[in-house]
Amino acid sequence: MQLSSLIFAGVLVSTAFGQSVRPQNITILQPDMPLAPNPLPLPGAASNADAIVAAFAKLGRTTVWNLAQKIKMEGETFEPEGMVRVGDDRFFVSGYNAIAPTPSFNGSIINGTDRAAGVGLPHLWVYSGNGTKIADATLAQNGDIEYHVGGIDYDGEYIWATIAQDRPNSTATLVKIDPTNITVTNIVHITDHLGGVVHDVETGNLHMLGWGSRNASTWNLNYKAAPYPAFTTPRNVRRNPSYWNDYQDCKFLGHPAAYNFRAVMFCSGLITMPNVPGLYNNTQVGGISIVDLLTMVPLAEIPVALKSDLGALMLNNPVDVNIVDGKMRVYFMPDQHNSTMYVFEPEDNSPYEFGGWPYGLSGEFPL
Ligand SMILES: *[C@@H]1O[C@H](CO)[C@@H](O)[C@H](O)[C@H]1NC(C)=O
Ligand SMILES: *[C@@H]1O[C@H](CO)[C@@H](O)[C@H](O)[C@H]1NC(C)=O
Ligand SMILES: *[C@@H]1O[C@H](CO)[C@@H](O)[C@H](O)[C@H]1NC(C)=O
Ligand SMILES: *[C@@H]1O[C@H](CO)[C@@H](O)[C@H](O)[C@H]1NC(C)=O
Ligand SMILES: *[C@@H]1O[C@H](CO)[C@@H](O)[C@H](O)[C@H]1NC(C)=O
Ligand SMILES: *[C@@H]1O[C@H](CO)[C@@H](O)[C@H](O)[C@H]1NC(C)=O
Ligand SMILES: *[C@@H]1O[C@H](CO)[C@@H](O)[C@H](O)[C@H]1NC(C)=O
Ligand SMILES: *[C@@H]1O[C@H](CO)[C@@H](O)[C@H](O)[C@H]1NC(C)=O
Ligand SMILES: *[C@@H]1O[C@H](CO)[C@@H](O)[C@H](O)[C@H]1NC(C)=O
Repeated sequence: MQLSSLIFAGVLVSTAFGQSVRPQNITILQPDMPLAPNPLPLPGAASNADAIVAAFAKLGRTTVWNLAQKIKMEGETFEPEGMVRVGDDRFFVSGYNAIAPTPSFNGSIINGTDRAAGVGLPHLWVYSGNGTKIADATLAQNGDIEYHVGGIDYDGEYIWATIAQDRPNSTATLVKIDPTNITVTNIVHITDHLGGVVHDVETGNLHMLGWGSRNASTWNLNYKAAPYPAFTTPRNVRRNPSYWNDYQDCKFLGHPAAYNFRAVMFCSGLITMPNVPGLYNNTQVGGISIVDLLTMVPLAEIPVALKSDLGALMLNNPVDVNIVDGKMRVYFMPDQHNSTMYVFEPEDNSPYEFGGWPYGLSGEFPL
């Protein structure tokens, strides 16, 4: 493999609305391969939203998942957190390198949180469709305590991410990333840990998931944030009413007609059940969901009990969804450090299970 390394460094540049561009650190491993296709493609999930909602409605607990593709992702991946497909030949994957742990305050709450900050660095990796690593960008500087990058979304123009302290009730920065050159712009600084984010391009809303996905916070791009790094209060904070799934990575899924044009997202995630001797012993369960962004109510959800060759539940962190040749495809990348992309399609002739179509009996969405 050709291996050359170009480092670009930038300076903090102030722009409109208190935004600033982060210093840029990117190592290009494949100089002959562009980072992103030109022109940039539509986002797979949002531009196929109606078909994805219809395909999801046919899924159930007895769905048989066929492995369509398995792609070894080149190099060290630390802890992958999110992914987006940008066209058929590029994957952008977020993840962070936890360099030193976050020691517990042993039950004490200090400055609103329960553990020390730790040391780490957030990354964004660019891969080709066959897993060749094209570039490795670090999204913060050494010593920054906001080093945890969460789930990501792609809206056809930018990749959206949050870079947060790796502890609850701390701080996070929402950023947008230009996929053509990995220019990272700070949008808003918030006093909470925030992870997965989706961008509703119709409303300008950015919906961000808190620690363990227990709350969602919303910022809106039509509003003016305090000049970075001053903090801004989100427009809205609401609870996630479902304790069956801590969503990890989500994709904006438009305003599908089937859901009365509500804004929804597609998410994957998991929880560890409370231990019950003889029944649950660090048992992980989870699934994929379509979630209403206004209320965080899951409108459709199914468990997924697939694991990687290395034994990780498929639902660990990164996920994307698309329609390929008329069929739904779900992309997972569950393993840490040595990762493989698993691409699954639901089998049309899976055993039938009562349930399915999420509309009211009249054929209309009831809410
Ligand atoms: C927490 O407990 C561990 C183990 O007893 C100890 O090593 C550590 O110093 C304690 N940390 C704090 C912040 O008290
Ligand atoms: C709590 O916050 C104060 C003020 O920012 C800081 O000086 C102190 O070091 C913090 N304590 C811990 C344990 O992080
Ligand atoms: C979060 O931390 C702040 C201090 O930084 C504190 O005032 C607040 O009570 C904390 N909230 C929770 C839910 O722990
Ligand atoms: C991936 O594709 C590139 C060309 O785009 C090729 O050079 C490389 O050998 C392929 N790698 C694998 C693992 O198939
Ligand atoms: C980013 O690049 C600058 C300038 O080359 C360098 O000083 C800094 O250590 C780099 N930071 C990271 C996290 O690689
Ligand atoms: C990155 O690309 C965008 C166009 O997509 C351009 O406007 C911007 O100036 C570029 N930034 C840098 C630092 O090259
Ligand atoms: C979630 O939001 C509720 C209500 O705003 C708040 O009481 C709670 O502390 C938040 N929880 C977390 C984990 O941030
Ligand atoms: C729980 O699982 C661990 C690891 O598989 C095993 O060593 C342990 O014995 C189990 N504990 C119980 C109570 O079943
Ligand atoms: C990486 O994972 C694959 C299975 O997905 C395994 O066969 C291989 O040995 C692993 N490599 C390392 C270096 O752990």
